[in-house]
Amino acid sequence: MKVLYLLYAAPTAWALINPILPGWNSDPSIIRVEDDYFIATSTFESWPGHPIYHSKDLIDWKLAGYASNKPSQFSMLGTPPNAGVWAPTLRYHNGTYYLATTTRYVDTAELRLFLRSFYVTTDDIFSNIWSDPIYFDSLGYDPDLFWDDNGDVYSTWAGINHAKEKIHGIWQNRIDITTGTSSTEAQLIFNGTLELNATSRPEGPHVYFINEMYYLVIAEGSTGLTHRATIQRGPSPSGPWENNPANPILYNGVDPSQTVQCTGHVDLVESLDGEWWGTALATRVQNGNVSHQQLGRESYLFPVHWEDGWPIINNGKPLVENDPDVLLDDKPLQLFSTNFTEGSLDATFHFLRTPIKKFHEITEDGLFIHANSYALGDRDNPAAVFRRQSSYSETFEVQVDFQDPHNRLQEAGISAFYDDYLHNEVGVTGASDGSGDRLNSTTYPVKLRITARPDHYTLSYAEAPDSAYVDVGTFDAAVLSVPPPGSFYFKGTEFAAYNTGTGRPSLLPATFKYWMQTPEALEPTNATLSS
Ligand SMILES: *[C@@H]1O[C@H](CO)[C@@H](O)[C@H](O)[C@H]1NC(C)=O
Ligand SMILES: *[C@@H]1O[C@H](CO)[C@@H](O)[C@H](O)[C@H]1NC(C)=O
Ligand SMILES: *[C@@H]1O[C@H](CO)[C@@H](O)[C@H](O)[C@H]1NC(C)=O
Ligand SMILES: *[C@@H]1O[C@H](CO)[C@@H](O)[C@H](O)[C@H]1NC(C)=O
Ligand SMILES: *[C@@H]1O[C@H](CO)[C@@H](O)[C@H](O)[C@H]1NC(C)=O
Ligand SMILES: *[C@@H]1O[C@H](CO)[C@@H](O)[C@H](O)[C@H]1NC(C)=O
Ligand SMILES: *[C@@H]1O[C@H](CO)[C@@H](O)[C@H](O)[C@H]1NC(C)=O
Repeated sequence: MKVLYLLYAAPTAWALINPILPGWNSDPSIIRVEDDYFIATSTFESWPGHPIYHSKDLIDWKLAGYASNKPSQFSMLGTPPNAGVWAPTLRYHNGTYYLATTTRYVDTAELRLFLRSFYVTTDDIFSNIWSDPIYFDSLGYDPDLFWDDNGDVYSTWAGINHAKEKIHGIWQNRIDITTGTSSTEAQLIFNGTLELNATSRPEGPHVYFINEMYYLVIAEGSTGLTHRATIQRGPSPSGPWENNPANPILYNGVDPSQTVQCTGHVDLVESLDGEWWGTALATRVQNGNVSHQQLGRESYLFPVHWEDGWPIINNGKPLVENDPDVLLDDKPLQLFSTNFTEGSLDATFHFLRTPIKKFHEITEDGLFIHANSYALGDRDNPAAVFRRQSSYSETFEVQVDFQDPHNRLQEAGISAFYDDYLHNEVGVTGASDGSGDRLNSTTYPVKLRITARPDHYTLSYAEAPDSAYVDVGTFDAAVLSVPPPGSFYFKGTEFAAYNTGTGRPSLLPATFKYWMQTPEALEPTNATLSS
């Protein structure tokens, strides 16, 4: 039995660290190159997209850059929530890093899927310079890249039935890796282990060659509670497949009392010393209600060992959050605090859709945001910066200087933001009618605060740096968890700072003096954690 431990100062304080990427980090794909590990995750309509996290020890992960970071790679203009760029496959071959992914750049009234898959490359993953896209011919999503020993390159993806969103099994062809162009006819290589219907959704394929066998890992069972991972093996990258009698290899949904749910989208990696590990996405259900998972899908790590040529994930046990035996006080909280004195925005900040026009600068007074005409919720590029909420209990605080707004359209503030539909703000406006959770116009800087708790959020302000906070509103966390009918929920909650003219240009600047995110001790939810 193999478990990943982190040693703290106190000798009894051992912890299995999960989720390894807390906060919204969906669809992790992992590789190792020499003694460096990298994980890429999906980012939908956020910009830049596909963060690349780096670690030497699988425990301590740092953001190294973004693979999708140039408007020439793709542009998200009017991109609906949860469209944008989808799940990546990160791979390394002969000196080059590849990130294969899908962009869903058109949305129609019928919510039909039109997707284009492509890959980008770099020879230096720390440079943050990636190529323009090289497009595949496939119609589908979750593309995987696999190099066979004879040099053939396979593209494998979740097929859909001509944009009608009927999932059509796992498809594959060989491609010319320099152009992305198909060199063989596409073929359906696997229907999944479930009855093929609208909810079986075989997707997230990854092909491997391990110990003289080819393996196909997929995600199945839709993206909710029945999400799971299964594996097949066979004599070629295309099968025919022998089903693992122990499938699914990861499925917390068999036990709905687990606080970690929606487990799947597995990728596997071998360490330098021949040990195996894997990553998956999962959500942390709050208070036993699967509808409440406002942090969205997070990235988990688990040990893998092989028995009779099949992988056993996490020693056959469900994925759990940090072990309840962890001494929480000894766990370093991932406090994030900046006075914006570094000259540029920390790389963990990002934007919504491709920035059309720069609206921010770092000045000696802090983060200066010029308003644009777009407000949060507009399907455009609002003047706002975002950073993930990483813990269910977390306090987000800023001080903003936004003086003398003269109408209610001029507004600057902060937000707990999931997507265009799901968000709540506390801000300052020139309203004389005190609309919503907005503070009426001020002639001095104010502090704004959002206090997140597993089941609710509280919005507050303080009129002077040293005065006490006044609560102006509270809302149920479900507001950030339950999408309107027909829309997806693939993301997770972020904190944002914005300045808007709400439909009109506004000359009034907003300067944010600092940004502080303070996660509280990691509180396990009250359901029983099993180990
Ligand atoms: C690996 O890359 C080198 C340098 O670009 C190239 O010369 C060589 O042909 C490549 N080998 C394979 C197997 O692709
Ligand atoms: C997938 O299912 C279809 C429809 O039942 C069948 O025709 C096809 O042979 C199956 N393909 C594979 C690879 O199992
Ligand atoms: C899909 O198949 C599963 C397993 O047979 C079944 O439980 C489910 O109800 C089916 N869903 C639909 C939409 O037909
Ligand atoms: C959590 O605690 C509340 C209050 O004690 C209780 O009603 C609820 O059933 C518990 N939830 C779970 C999943 O145990
Ligand atoms: C920000 O400024 C305050 C007050 O000057 C200081 O106490 C704090 O350490 C600074 N924080 C950072 C992250 O620089
Ligand atoms: C703003 O002013 C209005 C009108 O005086 C008042 O009703 C409202 O409570 C004020 N809002 C806040 C957040 O102080
Ligand atoms: C779970 O949360 C949803 C959304 O808030 C709510 O509609 C539903 O009633 C809750 N379910 C239970 C069992 O509390």
